Amino acid sequence: VSKVVVAVDGTSGSGKSSTSRGAASRLGLRYLDTGAQFRAMTWWMLQHGVNIHDPQAVADSAGKPDIESGTDPLDPTITVDGDDASIAIRTEQVTNSVSPVSAVPEVRARLLELQREIIGDGGIVVEGRDIGSVVWPRAQVKLYITADPAARAARRAAEEGGSDLGATQESLLARDKIDSGRAAAPLVMAEGAQHIDTTPYSLEEVISQVVALVEAAG
Ligand code: C5P
Repeated sequence: VSKVVVAVDGTSGSGKSSTSRGAASRLGLRYLDTGAQFRAMTWWMLQHGVNIHDPQAVADSAGKPDIESGTDPLDPTITVDGDDASIAIRTEQVTNSVSPVSAVPEVRARLLELQREIIGDGGIVVEGRDIGSVVWPRAQVKLYITADPAARAARRAAEEGGSDLGATQESLLARDKIDSGRAAAPLVMAEGAQHIDTTPYSLEEVISQVVALVEAAG
């Protein structure tokens, strides 16, 4: 288990993050949230007045921010140009802007380099959309995590403290559509991935399933 790479991909709001963090923590592995890196890139662009709907402008800026990801599953702090951006990257503005930024190949290339460097020789749970397909196709364990849109919206709305269910579901589905439809590294179920539909399970049940799968893989 100590050098394993666990690739966790799936739709927005499916429980990927909580599951990945919980499993990493129980297994004594590091954790990398690649979605946070795309959010950090997006946040930097919004801060610096880059038009995120202009792919050329986004591509030209992709190399500029200095993004560093913490890998402690209990405290995955992310910094941008040295400042803690962990809270700033979760705003609705970033959430609604991140998918077009993530579709730009130059952004993906820049972050791919950081991601592979952090994965290094393993011992890590890596979460995102293209981990099993592009970032680390040789991962020993690949998971594809989904949940019914209504269940995802209900969980997300509860986390956000009672935001509108219908609007939350629409925003999740809009993000999935862009993430699955883009040309560069779209969200797909990677070859060899195991599908977990978390709809009927509690978080603890899903974490236990993942821990068992990783232990079974050696
Ligand atoms: O996981 P999270 O919802 O925070 O990811 C935010 C966005 O980052 C996704 O909607 C997607 O556009 C992008 N992303 C990606 N590839 C990854 C991880 C995230 O394109 N590996």
